[in-house]
Amino acid sequence: DLETQLGGFAGKRVLVRSDLNVPLDHSGGAPAITDDGRIRASVPTLRRLLDAGARVVVTAHLGRPEGVPEAKYSLAPVHARLAELLPGVHVGFSPETVGAQAKAAVAALEDGQLLLLENIRFAPGETSKDDGERGAFADELAALADGFVSDGFGAVHRKHASVFDVARRLPHAAGLLVAAEVAVLQRLTTDPERPYAVVLGGSKVSDKLGVIDNLLGTLLTEGDRLLVGGGMVFTFLKAVGHEVGKSLLEADQLEKVNEYIATAKAKGVQLVLPTDVVAATAFAADADPQVVPADAIPADRLGLDIGPDSSAAFAAALADARTVFWNGPMGVFEMEPYAGGTRAVAQAIVDAGTASGAFSVVGGGDSAAAVRTLGFADSQFGHISTGGGASLEYLEGKQLPGLDVLD
Ligand code: 3PG
Repeated sequence: DLETQLGGFAGKRVLVRSDLNVPLDHSGGAPAITDDGRIRASVPTLRRLLDAGARVVVTAHLGRPEGVPEAKYSLAPVHARLAELLPGVHVGFSPETVGAQAKAAVAALEDGQLLLLENIRFAPGETSKDDGERGAFADELAALADGFVSDGFGAVHRKHASVFDVARRLPHAAGLLVAAEVAVLQRLTTDPERPYAVVLGGSKVSDKLGVIDNLLGTLLTEGDRLLVGGGMVFTFLKAVGHEVGKSLLEADQLEKVNEYIATAKAKGVQLVLPTDVVAATAFAADADPQVVPADAIPADRLGLDIGPDSSAAFAAALADARTVFWNGPMGVFEMEPYAGGTRAVAQAIVDAGTASGAFSVVGGGDSAAAVRTLGFADSQFGHISTGGGASLEYLEGKQLPGLDVLD
């Protein structure tokens, strides 16, 4: 089994791909990690390997530096937090990804020690679309280790050197996080308990087209529910004939959204849209937020959250659900006047878990950060995924390069 496979790396140099892409706040001088969930989620696999006596080399990315080193994308703050989470372990940091300095640092590792490499995306080969260039970089990366553990679930949808190509070059295994995340996604896609409720939010419909296609095409059936909020909902409201004022609108998606509305109706999937919204005169906390009916958004206002009636209706649609998947905040939760909808949905999902034993999954960096900043605990949900794009692409039914490549 997986545990045994990981133990098999004892005494060997193991390259572990983790997803340590955490949000950083640079406003106070030294960068501060605002949600360390991904670092904490990476620890069990690292612990397991270290306890087994492996020499662990961790590679990860932060942000999208596009092949050029930039101080604001350094993994140095992540290194400090990782060291705190692994008390008693020697946790080194290599300012290089590959190259002489990184090789020397790896060679100096002893059994049970760990080395974190600097942001892998500082190297252009990591994300190159050119198979040759990416492969050459993967060769260098693979030369640092005897084996590879794929544990960066949040990045498995990327065909990158450290996610995909390196697995073709080294004996490998899936890490504990990747295995756990995939098990959850299988539960969401293989014979899920119904009613099944999916809550989608976030700013763009265009980011969610694939998942809505697959939800309405295969995953959701009669009696299931699709709840839509966030910036993307204004394209739905416009599609049903409402004026949306200055709200976010993707006019080029209206036709597609109309098709979705028709498909949901034909299949008996309940499409739950807000009936009221919190609308303001500008994208700011102090821009006179007011609750207005969803079919009467004033021309000079933009919707920044779902309103209280909608929150109640969303909660009702979640109350007896047996499976819940949520991706994307309902509003601009970072500003208190627009946090109500996201808070209400989080609470309704927690309540469904307590009342009817619903299995709930919160997917995506934004949604995970939202529930944590709003004061919810991870343990109140069935699972908080470390993958945003990755979990969505899985639910779209897409092949994920970083999973497909594993034996
Ligand atoms: C994420 O934040 O979803 C993952 O870390 C992947 O990052 P990316 O979208 O920049 O590839």
